[in-house]
Amino acid sequence: MASIPFDRRLYRQDIEGSIAHARMLARQGIIAGSDAETIVKGLYSIRDEIEQGKFQFKTELEDIHMNIESALFEKIGDVAGKLHTARSRNDQIALDLRLFVKEEIPRTVDGTKSLQAALVEVAEGNKTVIMPGYTHLQQAQPVLLAHHLLAYFQMLQRDRERFQDCLGRTEVLPLGSGALAGVPYPLDREFVARELGFKKVSANSLDAVSDRDFVIEYEAAAAITMMHLSRLAEELVLWSSSEFGFIEMGEAYATGSSIMPQKKNPDAAELVRGKTGRVYGHLVGMLAAMKSLPLAYNRDLQEDKEGLFDTVDTLQSSLEVFAGMMKTVRVNGDRIAQAMKTDYMLATDLADYLVSKGLPFREAHGVVGRLSQYAVSKGKNFRELALEEYHKFSPLFGEDVYEITLESSVAARNVAGGTSPQQVEIALKEAKRLIKE
Ligand code: ARG
Repeated sequence: MASIPFDRRLYRQDIEGSIAHARMLARQGIIAGSDAETIVKGLYSIRDEIEQGKFQFKTELEDIHMNIESALFEKIGDVAGKLHTARSRNDQIALDLRLFVKEEIPRTVDGTKSLQAALVEVAEGNKTVIMPGYTHLQQAQPVLLAHHLLAYFQMLQRDRERFQDCLGRTEVLPLGSGALAGVPYPLDREFVARELGFKKVSANSLDAVSDRDFVIEYEAAAAITMMHLSRLAEELVLWSSSEFGFIEMGEAYATGSSIMPQKKNPDAAELVRGKTGRVYGHLVGMLAAMKSLPLAYNRDLQEDKEGLFDTVDTLQSSLEVFAGMMKTVRVNGDRIAQAMKTDYMLATDLADYLVSKGLPFREAHGVVGRLSQYAVSKGKNFRELALEEYHKFSPLFGEDVYEITLESSVAARNVAGGTSPQQVEIALKEAKRLIKE
């Protein structure tokens, strides 16, 4: 039954909510002003005791609300009994949790910004590096490494937006809903909302005490963010393998093996990839816990906290670790160049070349397909084929076919959102603006 081992984390929100409630009760003449003052003073001193580690949490008092109320009785006597006028633990816990999520969202957004900034830093530091772009993990077309990294910047940008959206629906005051039906007192809910920084008051008491959408939304946004981190983690793991060797991770984010001295394992990236699963778990757990709950409050809802807390902690620490780790990434341009020493990734450019000479694209595609098979069978790169060899496949090939390079391929993709240096420069500038937002 007891939730105090975990809901003690909400002590600050619980006290803040109680203070706003007590002040409102006095303003409305529901309790005396002097009583409210005594209550507020008592609550402040309980908060200080908790923060100084002097507070004795008691399991037999079940939850954070009862622990604080009982301490208030000890401190100020019977006046303490007036605080819970026009309130229930049902609207109280809904309030505490909303206050908690409302505070964590900006922190989470800051975490994503730090990682975005780290990505921009690595992108800027390696602006001219061309790498293989992949589809099906097969080399497809060359892209700028910066372009590749900025793809993750965009994912994180959407994540930020999702958290901001969720904030809008979290900033709704449930207090005043009572146990489920509202309360028979002339409350000023707008006052409490303003005191606590909420944008509005809830419109339906039954909904307000039993709604945990804001928890689920945070967890869903967290799950998506972790999925993005996990994709990036996977690439970093791949790139730091000896087969790829595209990057090296800073020592602090990798560990050696206890028995194989040659190894440097990308542990931090792997851990974040691994932790993605538990964040998904919390989301699914909460959806499952709620799926058959009748209105209004049910004790099942107490299950919302541990998953939420762990989601917040896991996500925020993952973002922090990733931001730190990205900054230590060393890009090995030589190894990346070596990976592209066959130039078959330029096949699309050869087709586009023929298009520029007047051939319809589908035909050009066929010609280059046959040309590629020929090149592979001869063990030659495109640039190693003689013009006569090109002419076996199309008379449209001229000397300028040798001007097609990785650089020209990248530069040619100068469409908005493309990988050309010019577009990537624009993207970097925009990225830096978004980080400051
Ligand atoms: N510990 C409870 C929770 O986390 C607080 C609300 C309890 N309300 C009740 N009527 N038992 O949901």
